[in-house]
Amino acid sequence: MHVSLYEAIGEEGFDEVTKAFYSQVPDDEILGPMYPPGQIEDARVRLRDFLVGRFGGPPRYIAQRGHPRLRMRHIRFPIDRRARDRWVQLMSTAVEQSGIPARAGEQLMRFCEDAATFLINRRA
Ligand code: HEM
Repeated sequence: MHVSLYEAIGEEGFDEVTKAFYSQVPDDEILGPMYPPGQIEDARVRLRDFLVGRFGGPPRYIAQRGHPRLRMRHIRFPIDRRARDRWVQLMSTAVEQSGIPARAGEQLMRFCEDAATFLINRRA
């Protein structure tokens, strides 16, 4: 039987991963400057809610923000291959630091890697 990632790791799993991800963002020399200071927690909640909804949990993100249209929402940020790779690297560290099971982490990383590639909008 197929068990959704949300059933497997729950709200807490997504909370842990996004906290570990965003704790690294402000000091990152590539990503830090892109995120508005003072709104890191709001940004974290948006990413958490998006992932929760995407992986079978309550659709809070869509209820609050509408259709994700992630490529459009990221166009104003300069995402080249380097920025994409750094985002993926911080997410990978976050998944490791969180207590979520390895299989769940692999599933989450596959999705994030593909989504991050799709968001590249600048040549290096
Ligand atoms: C590829 C590198 C990426 C960069 C540089 C990047 C950067 C950003 C920045 C600067 C924001 C604005 C923060 C805010 O919400 O106020 C943002 C928002 C967001 N990002 Fe990314 N992001 C990347 C990849 C991703 C990926 C892979 C996902 C999904 C797995 C994602 C999901 C989101 C979501 C859901 C929002 C909130 C959009 C909204 O509702 O306005 N991002 N991102």
